[in-house]
Amino acid sequence: MKLLTSAILIATILAAASAQAQDIAAGERSWNKCRACHQIGETAKNGVGPHLNGLFGRHTGEVEGYSYSAANKAANLTWDEAIFAEYIKDPKAKIPGTKMVFAGIKNEKEIADLTAFLKQFGKDGKKL
Ligand code: HEC
Repeated sequence: MKLLTSAILIATILAAASAQAQDIAAGERSWNKCRACHQIGETAKNGVGPHLNGLFGRHTGEVEGYSYSAANKAANLTWDEAIFAEYIKDPKAKIPGTKMVFAGIKNEKEIADLTAFLKQFGKDGKKL
């Protein structure tokens, strides 16, 4: 009986781990929509948009050396999952006057996957 319980527990853990891996892989595909303008990772630099290392916990307009719009700087938000989800659905609705030209991602699952992908990268661009 104990053995069976352990086997079920291990199977559950493995299933959860693989579901998470899939989400990050899907998020990486979604990231392709951002790559024309944003970089992430250890060698990330600012491009058309600021680098997105350590995004969650960052304040709007915080990346040094990036020339933000007045609207983005004045938005006065700290990026967390809920704020990011609202923003990425429709950037111009969340931050009117943003210079980010992006139609948005409406699909909740895609937003969750993209969030999981972005969350891997710490402030220094290394995977956490
Ligand atoms: C066509 C270029 C372009 C694309 C595509 C794009 N962005 Fe942006 N993004 C920008 C620009 C430019 C800014 C700076 C906005 C400002 O200063 O008003 C920005 C700002 C941001 C910010 C705010 C950063 C901060 O430090 O306050 C986030 C978060 C963001 N983008 C995420 C994304 C994600 C995720 C994607 C892909 C799903 C994406 N962007 C696609 C150009 C783009």
